[in-house]
Amino acid sequence: MITKDEFVKNYDVKKLDERFSVETFDCGDKDLNDFIREEAELYKSQLLAMPYILTKKYETNEILAYFTLANDKINVTDFVSNSQFNKFRKANFNKEKYLRSYPSVKIGRLAISKELQGLGIGTHILRFIKIYFLSDNKTGCRFITLDAYRGAVDFYKRNGFSFLQKEDTNPTQLMYFDLMTINSDSFI
Ligand SMILES: CC(C)(COP(=O)(O)OP(=O)(O)OC[C@H]1O[C@@H](n2cnc3c(N)ncnc32)[C@H](O)[C@@H]1OP(=O)(O)O)[C@@H](O)C(=O)NCCC(=O)NCCS
Repeated sequence: MITKDEFVKNYDVKKLDERFSVETFDCGDKDLNDFIREEAELYKSQLLAMPYILTKKYETNEILAYFTLANDKINVTDFVSNSQFNKFRKANFNKEKYLRSYPSVKIGRLAISKELQGLGIGTHILRFIKIYFLSDNKTGCRFITLDAYRGAVDFYKRNGFSFLQKEDTNPTQLMYFDLMTINSDSFI
């Protein structure tokens, strides 16, 4: 497992641009490979999501991992019933803060190059995103959301994500992370 220091020293997180070779990226999942190769630039130019990439510092145009971020919200339609939404509000907020929806950012996609999986890079990227939205409170963003692949649910659980709805048999499962549950000082 790489440490936080190794991550900061050796890797850069950047916005995707034409300098980077999307063609050679391979995380072992066809949909995620196709997205970075064929669709990411369009999502970026149409302001539908921002694709970020991980590269080795000072080196090459090789993409080691990527993720996308887009504005999102958690609202009543994400739950099977109004009472489930009310339960969620009750668990996270006091009554004065009962809103119809809550601001969040969505990790649309997250993929690590095949040879680098299992080394801790995915965990570091999630930490990076948590800090990014916590530090300076840029937009007022309370939650991180994502649609987890079934095979990646345990990975997200280990990183503090929970289900918004009861677990079902869909190929992806909506999960969230509450940014108020972390102490930003512990990341510095
Ligand atoms: C899923 C993925 C993003 C995780 O990133 P990673 O860098 O490989 O994960 P990490 O090394 O940070 O993993 C941390 C822990 O999660 C576990 N883990 C990693 N991938 C996992 C998976 N697919 N399923 C279950 N557990 C997984 C690791 O074993 C490790 O556990 P440990 O700390 O107890 O040893 C990455 O493996 C990947 O890109 N997979 C292919 C594409 C994909 O499935 N993307 C997710 C889309 S929702």
